Amino acid sequence: MAMLLHWSVAALIVWGFALGWIMTDIPGITPTKLRYFSWHKWIGVTVLVLALVRLVWRATHRPPALPDAMHGWEKLAAHAGHAALYVLMLAVPVSGYLYSSAAGIQVVYLGVLPLPTLIGPDGALKAVLKTVHIALDYALAAVVVGHLLAVVKHELLDKQRIVARMLPFGGRSRASGR
Ligand code: HEM
Repeated sequence: MAMLLHWSVAALIVWGFALGWIMTDIPGITPTKLRYFSWHKWIGVTVLVLALVRLVWRATHRPPALPDAMHGWEKLAAHAGHAALYVLMLAVPVSGYLYSSAAGIQVVYLGVLPLPTLIGPDGALKAVLKTVHIALDYALAAVVVGHLLAVVKHELLDKQRIVARMLPFGGRSRASGR
């Protein structure tokens, strides 16, 4: 379950991020742009729901310990990075959702389920939330890049086989890093 949630959320974040970038680069208002905005919002809402499920799963299921071969500071950095990822997995979609609400645009999930508009149309708040959403997007991208660099370091330089920990066919013994 933890692996399924990890890879589905990872794929959706990459897809949502790419779409966010592409859609905001399309000039004017076109049917394609509006479609991409809708897809972007649906992906984001899905990330929010899956991130909440992940948090509940994480709180009720202890993950395997980090490899013994890791230094204390590396374990601390890993925990801090993972905590930041959890916070941003929630904060990014929430800020986007609130931005959409402040812009007076209701999200209709998958085109069939109207979701509540949490705040009324508010021009000033809309501008602030747009900046917040974009800043959080890039903070998430930065932490994801850090996460990937750490994986590469442990896997290739330290030969700790940590990727196997997140693969169903990886095997626990090889993943221990000893
Ligand atoms: C994992 C979740 C999400 C990610 C990774 C993400 C990422 C992004 C990115 C990269 C952009 C383009 C920023 C730029 O201009 O450089 C963007 C824009 C935008 N996002 Fe999201 N987003 C997420 C969730 C959401 C949600 C849930 C909503 C609304 C329900 C939303 C609404 C918007 C809107 C309306 C824009 C356009 C901003 C503008 O007016 O320029 N996003 N997002």
